Amino acid sequence: MSIEERLEAINVFLNETRSFEPPPAFRRQANVRDERVYRDAATDPEKFWSRFAEELIWIKKWDRVLEWKPPYAKWFLNGKINASFNCVDRWAKSNLRTKKAIVWEGEPGEERTLTFGDLYEEVNKCADALKNLGVKKGDRVALYLPMIPEAVVAMLACARIGAIHNVVFGGFSAESLRDRINDSQVKVLITADGGYRRGKAVPLKKAADEALENTPSIEHVMVVKRVSCDVQMKPGRDHWWHDLMAKAKSECEPEPMDSEDILYILYTSGTTGKPKGIVHTTGGYLTGVYATSKWVFDLKPDDVYWCTADIGWVTGHSYIVYGPLANGATVFMYEGAPDWPQKDRFWKLIEKYKITIFYTAPTAIRAFMKWGTEWPASANLTSLRLLGSVGEPINPEAWMWYHKHIGHETCPVVDTWWQTETGMILITPLPGIVTTKPGSATKPFPGIGASVLNEQGKQVKTGGGYLALTKPWPAMLRGIYGDPDRFMSQYWSKWKNIYFTGDGAKIDQDGYLWLLGRVDDVLNVSGHRVGTMEVESALVDHPSVAEAAVVGRAHEIKGEAIAAFVILKEGIEKSEDLSKELKEHVAKKIGAIARPEDIIFAAEVPKTRSGKIMRRLLKNIAEGKVLGDTTTLADPEVIHRLKQQSEEEG
Ligand code: PRX
Repeated sequence: MSIEERLEAINVFLNETRSFEPPPAFRRQANVRDERVYRDAATDPEKFWSRFAEELIWIKKWDRVLEWKPPYAKWFLNGKINASFNCVDRWAKSNLRTKKAIVWEGEPGEERTLTFGDLYEEVNKCADALKNLGVKKGDRVALYLPMIPEAVVAMLACARIGAIHNVVFGGFSAESLRDRINDSQVKVLITADGGYRRGKAVPLKKAADEALENTPSIEHVMVVKRVSCDVQMKPGRDHWWHDLMAKAKSECEPEPMDSEDILYILYTSGTTGKPKGIVHTTGGYLTGVYATSKWVFDLKPDDVYWCTADIGWVTGHSYIVYGPLANGATVFMYEGAPDWPQKDRFWKLIEKYKITIFYTAPTAIRAFMKWGTEWPASANLTSLRLLGSVGEPINPEAWMWYHKHIGHETCPVVDTWWQTETGMILITPLPGIVTTKPGSATKPFPGIGASVLNEQGKQVKTGGGYLALTKPWPAMLRGIYGDPDRFMSQYWSKWKNIYFTGDGAKIDQDGYLWLLGRVDDVLNVSGHRVGTMEVESALVDHPSVAEAAVVGRAHEIKGEAIAAFVILKEGIEKSEDLSKELKEHVAKKIGAIARPEDIIFAAEVPKTRSGKIMRRLLKNIAEGKVLGDTTTLADPEVIHRLKQQSEEEG
């Protein structure tokens, strides 16, 4: 969508006049109380970031803070550091040894707690087990796991020995897993027999086996027993996690990593059919997520912090694992669905574990709103002191509901904007000092250069435009794995030496930023990025489909839902069954998150004279704004007429 369309769609935000000052009780105890942090960070960003870096433990201190050769930045040059040491050893070897690091509840209700001491032991053993499988510094290890503590252990174990983790969300299909393994030439896969979701054991090893039929680089597979379902174990290749852990040594030296050594690769969708492997390195990334966890979430020693994201997304990486643990925080993790066995599961968890900080996505909030206030009202939520939102624009009504029914009007709400590529939160309120406005992510974090620019790269003082990042930041991506050209063209070619986010934004008279969603061919479905081209490729892969065009349409809960216009091959008849089959086909090819909400059979896809799909028209059709009854789209005359109309309207 263009900026104008985004602005139009989001007009409601522009009239929002409510604002909320930080509650005085919160302000008094906040980690940041002095507004001068913004000015100081802007005056000397290198000094600002190095102060945070100094709070981490380095094996060898850096000799230069930043080298910026656009589009490549290096942070804390020649510093040596280990991320696992900073998240685990540092606390396990202090008086926090017995402090809870991870508190976990499985969907069926079992509980597990790992103190920093326990986490130390598990991470060391897993690191040793990986070494025993031949994993060395720089090797890639893929993780395809449910939300269980082993996922955190495995990530930290990789970081410990300098192996690069490549976590693949457990909801992705076998094919998606295979492509991600092959793109980064993964040596070892860590998976589980399955995980629980809405009372059912979802098989993961089965999907992994399917992926592994075509992954020549894989040498070994470690399998966590979670649901005890039947699995095939290939002799020589597949090993049970518990067997390897039992044999492993409980000490494994952390590898001294260069600040710029790769910590992980994480794939995310872009504007082509092929996901991009976003590369993050060690020292700058850890500094960025450490700093933002401390200041945005206001972490304190007694907090019990819960981020509901899956470990397979960047939010899980930065704000379940590296950020909070580098702060020595207690992290709560839950395996399953929010409505299992009832729609109050999250609220009961908050009550039971006395969660103090809760970080979730607008999609979830909108679902909670729909389910009704009686569910949160039935639980004691008084332990909460801060609420966060991430992943997609939050509409003011959802923000207000969250503030009122979950935060009881006493918790600051931090709406945090960032991306897989940015690694860390970049636009957010600081909860002790920034007045919030429902629907606005407010201001750039101190030290961050973010502006709204027009097409020509000129700064927009008030009004709408493209969100751009004008200065390097420590956790920024260092590239797309194996594809420097795409890195350049995707992010750095719109304006010189300025990072293009792909998002539209509006800046108001107070300098507050209002995020408007993507302006490229990327959809945001329930806070998850899905590329239109990926879905289109999955559809044309079906034998009945000749052509497909995918657009996002407004959806009450998901924010955006996928509408697919499909042209069938000669002689194939449209039917309800075929529609279902196509939806299933996409889910099988990519994963359930990409399953189209609507399949609309059409005689042709309307294109401009230059051959570009008329996405705006398709979106309007999908949203019922033109043509109430889409079944007539199978008539070429109708398409022709719509196209003409749309061209006349300009
Ligand atoms: O469009 C923005 C939206 O999510 C995109 C990034 O998606 P992903 O890399 O999957 O990371 C999601 C979690 C950080 C952005 O380009 N987005 C993320 N947070 C917000 C948001 N849009 C509006 N407000 C937010 N707080």
